[in-house]
Amino acid sequence: MARMTEHDDFLSRRCVWVNGPVIVGAGPSGLAIAASLKEQGVPCVILERSDCIASLWQKRTYDRLKLHLPKQFCQLPGLAFPDDYPEYPTKKQFIEYLETYAKRFEITPRFNETVQSARYDETCGLWRVRTAGEVEYICRWVVAATGENAEEVIPDIQGLKELDRPVTHVSNYKSGEAYKGKKVLVVGCGNSGMEVCLDLCDHNAFPSMVVRESVHVLPREVMGKSIFEMAMLLMKWMPVWLVDKILLLLSWLVLGSMNKYGLKRPVTGPLELKNTKGKTPVLDIGALEKIRSGDIQVVPQIKKFSQGKAEFIDGRVIDVDAVILATGYRSNVPSWLQGSEFFGKDGFPKSAFPNGWKGNSGLYAVGFTRRGLAGASVDAVRAAKDIGRIWKEETKPAKQFIACHRRSYSQF
Ligand SMILES: Cc1cc2nc3c(=O)[nH]c(=O)nc-3n(C[C@H](O)[C@H](O)[C@H](O)COP(=O)(O)OP(=O)(O)OC[C@H]3O[C@@H](n4cnc5c(N)ncnc54)[C@H](O)[C@@H]3O)c2cc1C
Ligand SMILES: NC(=O)c1ccc[n+]([C@@H]2O[C@H](COP(=O)([O-])OP(=O)(O)OC[C@H]3O[C@@H](n4cnc5c(N)ncnc54)[C@H](OP(=O)(O)O)[C@@H]3O)[C@@H](O)[C@H]2O)c1
Repeated sequence: MARMTEHDDFLSRRCVWVNGPVIVGAGPSGLAIAASLKEQGVPCVILERSDCIASLWQKRTYDRLKLHLPKQFCQLPGLAFPDDYPEYPTKKQFIEYLETYAKRFEITPRFNETVQSARYDETCGLWRVRTAGEVEYICRWVVAATGENAEEVIPDIQGLKELDRPVTHVSNYKSGEAYKGKKVLVVGCGNSGMEVCLDLCDHNAFPSMVVRESVHVLPREVMGKSIFEMAMLLMKWMPVWLVDKILLLLSWLVLGSMNKYGLKRPVTGPLELKNTKGKTPVLDIGALEKIRSGDIQVVPQIKKFSQGKAEFIDGRVIDVDAVILATGYRSNVPSWLQGSEFFGKDGFPKSAFPNGWKGNSGLYAVGFTRRGLAGASVDAVRAAKDIGRIWKEETKPAKQFIACHRRSYSQF
């Protein structure tokens, strides 16, 4: 069979010149940068692999999910949450907010367009963004907005693949309804693992939760005040280590010691751990009480699965009817961004916050600061201002350049 050359491949694709940046991903980050670009008068194209905006929120999250930070820390640039929304909006309200946001800023992503590769072409000084639909978008700027949670992490545990019980990643879990009366092993004790265990209890299932090492659990609120808000306030005047000490003291006062329930705290404080390793502390919304009452069993790392049973490293063996993997997510940038040194192998920019939003040759990153929606908004505003500045400086020559490129592509 004849091998397709790069030249043949180029000819077989439809080329589309984009007058402005191509944004990859229509989640909150992609919407935020598109809206911020609009404010700068810069047009853009958003490519989204799914068939809707905010697909993580619409398709890959469970029913009872709420924002776990107060709403003022989750709003995108240019539009506040409605006043009648609660302090912690539900998933449905957040999606409604995002739909309104897209309408308000007239953002119309191109859906079902999975970006397979984006590469900077040194010879013409432009980006070539290829999608699974055989289209090549040519543009000056590329914004990576595919998120920190693009793909599920599936652990490699002995016997898991062969297990004769249903195994589901938490991204496919909707509610505990289907697990009534069942013994469910939840692998992972992040915010997802804890909340799914709570949901399983509420649906009369029997969850066990794997805590393989240690975890920081903080109360979501202290005396009616968000602990996150408190931490943000304290950080204005104090170093991180001191704020961490205060957070741990408050947690101890509100939640008590958790050691005896099998929840060991990491040696590094919660904020420092988040900043250095990206590990998110759990904000407790009720799971701890269920752990104390014994409704949620804490178990150590799994050694292996076999025939409806899980064996742990301490020798314990339990029966399992189902397994839910709350083992987290990973970025997928390395799978599509080619030839750029800006992102590391882990799919995050190599430069630490606040310098991870701008790469070389017109590459930008929005939503990779491990600072949730607030971090994505900061990136979006910075990137849009930067692109807007260059756009304004170069608008005239760029238009001439576009015209000449249009002619050259139409020759194929
Ligand atoms: C269960 C859960 C709850 C969370 N709760 C909060 C919270 O309360 N507060 C908070 O601040 N953060 C929270 N987060 C973090 C969350 O990542 C952010 O809120 C937010 O979704 C990040 O937006 P994003 O646009 O960067 O990424 P995403 O929302 O993941 O959007 C990325 C988009 O890119 C698309 N995409 C990916 N790859 C490609 C490709 N190759 N081509 C085209 N499109 C592609 C995806 O389909 C997706 O639509 C939560 C995360 C999870 C998993
Ligand atoms: N709004 C909300 O209320 C809400 C709800 C859910 C999630 N979120 C957010 O969504 C993001 C993802 O959260 P997440 O909880 O899904 O993922 P996560 O925070 O990455 O947690 C993954 C968990 O899985 C464990 N794990 C991974 N591999 C394992 C293995 N092989 N064996 C045993 N345990 C393993 C990890 O343990 P180690 O720590 O030992 O690695 C960790 O406890 C976070 O930013 C989180 O804050 C928010």
